[in-house]
Amino acid sequence: MLVNGIPRVTVRLKPDEPHIVEIIDQRKLPWAFEIAQLRSVDEVAVAIRDMWVRGAGCIGATAGYGMWLAAIEAMRDPDYLIGIKLGARKLLQTRPTAVNLARAVERQLDVLRRAKTPEQALGLVRTTAEAIAEEDIEACDAIGSHGLKLIEEITMRKCGAVVNVLTHCNAGWLAFVDIGSATAPIYAAHEAGISIHVWVDETRPRNQGSRLTAWELAQQGVPHTVIADNTGGHLMQHGLVDLVITGADRVTRRGDVANKIGTYLKALAAKDNGVPFYVALPSSTFDWKMSDGVAEIPIELRGGEELSEIEGRLADGRLGAVRLFPDISPVANYAFDVTPARLVTGFITERGVCAADEVALRGLFPGN
Ligand code: MRU
Repeated sequence: MLVNGIPRVTVRLKPDEPHIVEIIDQRKLPWAFEIAQLRSVDEVAVAIRDMWVRGAGCIGATAGYGMWLAAIEAMRDPDYLIGIKLGARKLLQTRPTAVNLARAVERQLDVLRRAKTPEQALGLVRTTAEAIAEEDIEACDAIGSHGLKLIEEITMRKCGAVVNVLTHCNAGWLAFVDIGSATAPIYAAHEAGISIHVWVDETRPRNQGSRLTAWELAQQGVPHTVIADNTGGHLMQHGLVDLVITGADRVTRRGDVANKIGTYLKALAAKDNGVPFYVALPSSTFDWKMSDGVAEIPIELRGGEELSEIEGRLADGRLGAVRLFPDISPVANYAFDVTPARLVTGFITERGVCAADEVALRGLFPGN
């Protein structure tokens, strides 16, 4: 997508220096656009753990490239597989909820098992890292085309009046390699000339909505409004939301959705108000081994400072953080929740739109 008119991706190998992984440092947005260079699997693990990069597809692709750096480092030892497995373990320990990360690391380990020589291993790991990133872009592009049809139906029903979409957190291009999942149909509709407006949930505690989604939409010229997280239900009651589209960090085979904390409450409000609630995701976010999302999906508990402090631009232009309440009060910072399949109208995937149930999902993705 465009940043100040220049096409960018969130993660890639540095052209001409492929032993360096370049990422957009999302901690700095929206105040500064900075590319960080990662030179070792340890640096990649820190970048994922400390959320320089975030979002299911983006951390999956970054982990894929992290395995490439792990492989380069491991080649210094005679038993390179031990070193690579150590790198894999470091990456796997960083973020538990989004399944894309584990999937990317496991795919790289599978590929390595097939290699007969260290040179072959190195080549395969690099090709696979690039394939993971490329497939992520292709899937998001297809999600855009399939989701566009849903928005076209609404605009026809509304005789061309503005279509209002509500989204939570950031499942935009920053959360993937490019284009995004929840934002893909929005960008496709905007490009097709459909009059569209996005309600952007602020998404406390880390504000991925107001800091990242709003920035992305502004860069692409998509009309949007930032709202406090508790506003969605009110807007739905007043007919101001035509469609909710969120992303997902992990979806079980029966269609339960783990996504940023607060998604479940939006789904309940949507159900109560008859607003369609869609989840847009590439198939790399399905976890076919899990069924009951509430019972089985690991939910990340994050540091209390995300809740007790807030960072922003001060009146004099400097960036700063302020403490929001006395530190005598303990904090519980659950980063994700699970929306049961019964509240999900459907999934927008790279293979098309389907109902949120196991039969429909297996129909679209046979063999899983
Ligand atoms: O804590 P984050 O920023 O890593 O949260 C993950 C997310 O970005 C969201 O849950 C998003 O909606 C799905 S990721 C495509």
